[in-house]
Amino acid sequence: MEGPRPLFDHEFPQFVEFLSTHLRPVQNWSIADEYPLAIHGANLNNVRVIKEESNFLSAAVMKPLVIKSPAGLFKVAAIGSVVTAPDHRHRGLSRQVLDECLAAGKAHGCDFAILWTGLFDFYRKLGFELAGSEISLALPAAFKIEETFEKLSFMTSTKVDPEAILRLYSQHTTGSIRTLEDIRKFLQIPNAKVYTAWDENNRLQAYAVEGKGADFTGYIHEWGGGVSKLIPLLSYAAKESPQRLTVIAPHHAANFIRKLVQAGATQHSGVLGMIKILNSTSFLAKVKKYVRAFGVEDVVLEPRDGKFYLGYKQEIFSTDAESDLTRLIFGPGKASQLHKFDPATIEVFERLFPIPMWIWGWDSV
Ligand SMILES: CC(C)(COP(=O)(O)OP(=O)(O)OC[C@H]1O[C@@H](n2cnc3c(N)ncnc32)[C@H](O)[C@@H]1OP(=O)(O)O)[C@@H](O)C(=O)NCCC(=O)NCCS
Repeated sequence: MEGPRPLFDHEFPQFVEFLSTHLRPVQNWSIADEYPLAIHGANLNNVRVIKEESNFLSAAVMKPLVIKSPAGLFKVAAIGSVVTAPDHRHRGLSRQVLDECLAAGKAHGCDFAILWTGLFDFYRKLGFELAGSEISLALPAAFKIEETFEKLSFMTSTKVDPEAILRLYSQHTTGSIRTLEDIRKFLQIPNAKVYTAWDENNRLQAYAVEGKGADFTGYIHEWGGGVSKLIPLLSYAAKESPQRLTVIAPHHAANFIRKLVQAGATQHSGVLGMIKILNSTSFLAKVKKYVRAFGVEDVVLEPRDGKFYLGYKQEIFSTDAESDLTRLIFGPGKASQLHKFDPATIEVFERLFPIPMWIWGWDSV
């Protein structure tokens, strides 16, 4: 048996076939088309595989992202395409592969790792915790729109100038840093619908993306533009779509969420993904800088001797579970649900946390 180790260039086609066989058995596209930045020749160094003779037994893909947020820039290891060949499961192979992906993330200087899964217990064993908040909004078939919106025309097509999308995307307060080329590749992902709104001068005013390969069917996982342009665009999308659409939004997009609810959407709260902190010292230094920018002194967020000290003034809670830190800083729970802090600490923590941090659907791995 060989590995876990990174992938060699010449192994790429066979690797894509291994992933497609086990993770996309019925789709008629390559899994590499779904994750054009993660499953790509330029990212082989961040893939980890175990092989026996010439066969792949187990694999996982890590893609480092830089996420901007009001709390600064975070380097994040996004992990996906985790799979072990059926005859080799329950031998600890995936654990070894994932440990190596996390080590690669750490070596890249990533603050934390994130993944999207339903296998909560499997990933909890590796130190991941459900974290971050996500609001889903099921759209009504017909919107109740009372305001009159300026004249827009709508289109459903992936043939959109990536530069126009990037211009609107860059206005988000949080999300990964992307290049024009990234957007160009994202627009080619199979099984996606891109809805766009244009003004009278043919300038893109809003976009919304539904579906992404085998994921996000019926879900609008990427959107951008002003709220007054997005609401009519989503009203158009809801009419166009043969199925009921649900929009995913970060918790802090409060105005957008309020307007959609007013238009008849049904709101549910969920989590962003599973998160594991990789470099607690550098991560906490960034969070403390954010806390100081709020003008709050005496907040304690310290890793020391294998424990974490979290508190305000004299009220300090110590824990050896890194996941407590994840839950405090990213939510979705409140500080009061984590520990019986005194009222002053709860007031300060709930003002500061959860921090607004979000990863849009095109970046999921
Ligand atoms: C999930 C999967 C990758 C696990 O691979 P594996 O090589 O069998 O995993 P390991 O043997 O390393 O298991 C590690 C630990 O998780 C546990 N575990 C394994 N599969 C699990 C599952 N489906 N649910 C919960 N726990 C699981 C094991 O018991 C083991 O725990 P232990 O260390 O306490 O004994 C594999 O079942 C698979 O390829 N499934 C299909 C694809 C998939 O669902 N991928 C995950 C997408 S997010």
